[in-house]
Amino acid sequence: MVVKTGILYGISVGTGDPDLITVKGLRILQQVSVVAFPMGIENKPGIAQTIISPWLTSKQETCPLFFPYIQNETDLNLAWRQAAEQIWYYLKQGKDVAFACEGDISFYSTFTYLAKMLTHHHPAVKIQTVPGVCSPMAVTSILNLPLTVNNQRLAILPALYSLEYLEQALGWADVVVLLKVSSVYPQVWETLRRLNLLKRAWIVERANQPEQVIYNKLEELPNLRFSYFSLLIIYVSPSDFY
Ligand SMILES: C[S@@+](CC[C@H](N)C(=O)[O-])C[C@H]1O[C@@H](n2cnc3c(N)ncnc32)[C@H](O)[C@@H]1O
Repeated sequence: MVVKTGILYGISVGTGDPDLITVKGLRILQQVSVVAFPMGIENKPGIAQTIISPWLTSKQETCPLFFPYIQNETDLNLAWRQAAEQIWYYLKQGKDVAFACEGDISFYSTFTYLAKMLTHHHPAVKIQTVPGVCSPMAVTSILNLPLTVNNQRLAILPALYSLEYLEQALGWADVVVLLKVSSVYPQVWETLRRLNLLKRAWIVERANQPEQVIYNKLEELPNLRFSYFSLLIIYVSPSDFY
């Protein structure tokens, strides 16, 4: 008997509040037999795992996947390959798997690499994704501000490898969003001070999570320390709203 291969669903689960998952995402999440997510660190549950925990049933199998926080491409490929094989183990038995992704599945997500690795080694694999709330949208909702209005230009910088990129973006965009900013905050702060933009900037740490903190008045916070799960937004150009 030929077993029909299962489907891998990439489910966006939003930034922290379990209610931010979409109706479609929740329906699929509860209907699959296996739920995968990035493994937490130091024996703590991962963020996506914590977000979906109220929605899982005791009958579902869980599959934590190890994704190291490293830059070395060989080691990363090895980890993605290993994770892909863990997922394939279930798919080839005909079981559907949902991979839970914090924020949105297409927005700087590990899922993209996992899906690419699976497709490369198992071309028959079927993959579907469900979109969701990504961190810039979550943060602006928390700040009660629009992300952009009218014909404003938006720049999203996923990581700052050089301050030059920030200065360039501040030169042409009306709104600039910085991800992964915690490790370079002192340099970013200095640039914003020089350009007189500190009053127009906010940091939201762990948006929609119990530990959420909003920082404004950044001019008073040159030495602020905050988690990797933080986003800095700069409303460069004045508008009717900010
Ligand atoms: C690898 S990216 C993942 C983005 C995620 N897929 C999304 O849709 O937002 C990680 C970066 O996203 C931002 N981020 C993700 N979740 C966040 C949250 N709950 N609060 C604030 N920033 C968040 C942070 O800047 C973090 O360094």
